[in-house]
Amino acid sequence: MTDLSKTLRPYQQRIDQILESTLSNHNESLENLYAAMRYVTLAAGKRMRPLLVYSTADALQLDLKWVDASAVAIELIHAYSLVHDDLPAMDDDDLRRGQPSCHKAYDEATAILVGDALQALAFETLAQEQETTLSAAIRLQLIQVLARASGPNGMVGGQTMDLAGVGQTLEIDELSSMHQHKTGQLIQACITMPTICAPHLTDNERYTLHSLGETIGLAFQIRDDILDQISDTATLGKPQGSDSNKNKSTYVSLLGLDQAQKRCQELHTKALDYLSQCKLSDSSLRLLVDFIVSRNR
Ligand code: IPE
Ligand code: IPE
Ligand code: MG
Ligand code: MG
Ligand code: MG
Repeated sequence: MTDLSKTLRPYQQRIDQILESTLSNHNESLENLYAAMRYVTLAAGKRMRPLLVYSTADALQLDLKWVDASAVAIELIHAYSLVHDDLPAMDDDDLRRGQPSCHKAYDEATAILVGDALQALAFETLAQEQETTLSAAIRLQLIQVLARASGPNGMVGGQTMDLAGVGQTLEIDELSSMHQHKTGQLIQACITMPTICAPHLTDNERYTLHSLGETIGLAFQIRDDILDQISDTATLGKPQGSDSNKNKSTYVSLLGLDQAQKRCQELHTKALDYLSQCKLSDSSLRLLVDFIVSRNR
């Protein structure tokens, strides 16, 4: 077992258990909708965003229960984004997390509604979080950060740029902005949301962790672009070559594989520097930072 899986297994079990109970159905007439929500969310994803939330909380010496609602809400938003991303009107991909995409296993209408439902459930979870005594003001801030990272100024905006860019050759700055929006901001929220629950942080520490989130968010999507080129469908659990088949601008199509890998390494170095500034070089967060640029799925 690698250091990564040994250290992070308790977090993985924790999030899977909470997702399971969050998605339990209390309405028999909605059996199909709930089955589809569970099908996409509980499938074999990496759970990297919740793992980032828990590792950040641990690094900041927070009790993990303070960030349970944040971890689950971010993963629900992420799962919704994947379901919609695979739809025929978007990337039109039939495989996700090693199984038929939601619109293939069910149908398009169900996939649209599953995404809508997961999104609403994410915000409901954050708003009604009752396990802890997070103040209403903190909860409001968490909701605001997640809404911004998900909406037109975050993931949805990035997905819009992605679709508008099909068949076009983007400038590298445009591509970087698209990546920061469609993927980076939600990953950044995984670091920012725990910092909101940590009143003891200095402004400087807050700023450094914010920059760390921004850096690994972009690195994550560059690695995703690289894997689309160099990996295989069985390992990825989603169709390899989807970007090039759809004429998408990616770091690989714009810069070539070597330069894309180099850019990823530069961001890794920068992220390690931020960790060191926060004295977190030996934390589980460090393992995730390494994983983001070296992962093969
Ligand atoms: C895939 O994210 C979508 C992107 C933002 C690139 P992940 O690679 O984290 O997907 P799962 O959660 O492991 O399925
Ligand atoms: C999409 O990026 C990121 C999302 C917001 C879902 P991709 O389209 O590259 O994600 P994959 O490769 O299908 O997972
Ligand atoms: Mg896409
Ligand atoms: Mg896609
Ligand atoms: Mg991709």
